[in-house]
Amino acid sequence: MSAAPVVVLVGPMGVGKSTVGQLLAGRLSVGYRDTDDDIVAEQGRSIAEIFVDEGEETFRAIEKQAVHRALAGHDGVLALGGGAILDADTRALLAGQRVVYLSMDVEEAVKRTGLNTARPLLAVNPRKQWRELMEARRSLYEQVATAVVATDGRTPEEVAQVALDALELKEA
Ligand code: S3P
Repeated sequence: MSAAPVVVLVGPMGVGKSTVGQLLAGRLSVGYRDTDDDIVAEQGRSIAEIFVDEGEETFRAIEKQAVHRALAGHDGVLALGGGAILDADTRALLAGQRVVYLSMDVEEAVKRTGLNTARPLLAVNPRKQWRELMEARRSLYEQVATAVVATDGRTPEEVAQVALDALELKEA
């Protein structure tokens, strides 16, 4: 099957890609897909286990394949893992697609992800880790985005609405 997602969501972990993505899919009457879920289903183990067993580099290679498959095979709303945009080939594939970057500030990030041990990259000193991750990634998120939607102080429903408005997408 060859298809392009109607919307691709990017942004850091914990920003609400899954929640907002499912709301958007409902509003647009299309399917929702998440590349982290694809990886877990395909690998039969959690993301944290893949990081521990094989390291980040191998995870990124697995992720790249999953992202490229989903970009070619899903026509609904697609959420990418927070680090997927680190890959230059993936960024090239995102050019010309409708991509929403969901952003948040550091305090919001720590509130949402600080105690979540399922996210291996933030397991130790989440505030510092998050700042470093964002320094490395902010410009990459911005580079692939057709719209940037700040999530701070907004409910998921409000974020979904702002994204629909920014993309000028009508509900189905
Ligand atoms: C990661 C984000 C995670 C997951 C993995 C690495 C990252 O996805 O892919 O833990 O590098 O930002 P979410 O953004 O869906 O949490």
